[in-house]
Amino acid sequence: MQLILNYSINQTETQLVQLSEKYANQVTDLDDSENLQLLEHLTEMTDTSAVILDQEGTKLLQTNWQEDLTDKTLTSNEIMQLKRGETIVKEFTSNGSTYLKVAQPIINQNGTNGSVVLFSSFGLISNSIHNIIFLVILASLGAVVLAIGFTFFISKKLGAPPLIEMEKVAKQIAEKKNFSLRVDYKANDEIGSLAHAINHLSETLERYQTNRNEFFSNITHELKTPLTYVKGYANAVRHEMYQNKEEKDEFLEIIENETDHISDLMDDLMDLSKIEEGKIDLNKEDININKLAEEMLKRSQFRASEKGLTMHLNQPENTVYLFADKSRLDQVLTNLVENAVRYTEKGKITLTVQEERKDVIIRVEDTGIGIKQEDIPYLFERFYRVDKSRSRANGGTGLGLSIVKNLVEMHDGSIQVESEIDKGTAITLRFPTEEEKQYNALSR
Ligand SMILES: Nc1ncnc2c1ncn2[C@@H]1O[C@H](COP(=O)(O)OP(=O)(O)OP(=O)(O)O)[C@@H](O)[C@H]1O
Ligand SMILES: [Mg+2]
Repeated sequence: MQLILNYSINQTETQLVQLSEKYANQVTDLDDSENLQLLEHLTEMTDTSAVILDQEGTKLLQTNWQEDLTDKTLTSNEIMQLKRGETIVKEFTSNGSTYLKVAQPIINQNGTNGSVVLFSSFGLISNSIHNIIFLVILASLGAVVLAIGFTFFISKKLGAPPLIEMEKVAKQIAEKKNFSLRVDYKANDEIGSLAHAINHLSETLERYQTNRNEFFSNITHELKTPLTYVKGYANAVRHEMYQNKEEKDEFLEIIENETDHISDLMDDLMDLSKIEEGKIDLNKEDININKLAEEMLKRSQFRASEKGLTMHLNQPENTVYLFADKSRLDQVLTNLVENAVRYTEKGKITLTVQEERKDVIIRVEDTGIGIKQEDIPYLFERFYRVDKSRSRANGGTGLGLSIVKNLVEMHDGSIQVESEIDKGTAITLRFPTEEEKQYNALSR
């Protein structure tokens, strides 16, 4: 405000000085009536008040006069200054309004003749300044309102429905284990991808929960069946419900077999859970695969011949080596050969060892009952059995192949099943050699 006021005072001062100088220069004869017209004209145009005084300071004429100015014309000191030919510039207040006074001597050939005094009021300027202040205050208020509105909008966007809903859903998932909940919010921004992540998390947890529930109900079922047998036959033996000693031995043998079955199931489950949690370490070494296959053949020959099956081994002249965990690889082959014997009634079982380019291939083939194409994708799931009653009668629980798959994958291998109903099944394992793995890692 001060700045604007100072500026306008300076401007007005310059203007008044110029104006009074011009007038004083033009007017020499104070009695000329044209002087009055000129003065009136000038004061109207510049919105100033003017008075012309004679040498003694007596008022000769005035234009555009305001009452406030009556006793403000000139002091005797100022009249003296004018007589000396000096210009007077003075600022004063009267009745609350600020004025600028400029007095200029009128000089003719004989010396100082009189003077012209111009007055200009700053009332208008201070009005404008007040208007400006009013506008500034209004604009500040507007800015504050806008800022509040914007903050409100942002906090609503961040705090409102989607985020609050997400918080609720996350709490329900964590506290109530309600994994079927989803956040219903789709957008291509950060909040949208957060919603997507929460939904993905609850889907994964839901799947995990279903799997776990199925797993427990399967285990319970698997344990219940043999226990029912054990209990039933133990009861029969205790109450001597057998005809003769042979029948008693038969009952006891069933009890023995069923407890073996439970024990096998426990071992398999322990294995599977350790493998799936990544808790087993592989003790890898160079294994002579030809030798491993020969041992396998010898071990299963007895069970095969019991069922009237023949066992064959196909392997190359040279020795095939694979860098692997011997006992785990043995476990894989045992499971596959056991399946082949278990699900084959007549014919033969062939074990093949091959080297194909840089892969080591081990194949177990049988001439058994075969597997329907639609069942093949599920074979490696825990507890999956194609024919439950038949498999159980053979002592199977459906864990073997899922253990096999996990172990093969831990060795970076792959597994492939080909089968035809009543013709037989071939399961092929393919392991990359270390050399090949290094090559793949380098070329990646
Ligand atoms: N060689 C095969 N011929 C026909 N069916 C097979 C063969 N191998 C596996 N299957 C089918 O796949 C199912 C799953 O096999 P898997 O080895 O996982 O379980 P299992 O043999 O029933 O029980 P276990 O856990 O004792 O091995 C079997 O129940 C059987 O129906
Ligand atoms: Mg099996």
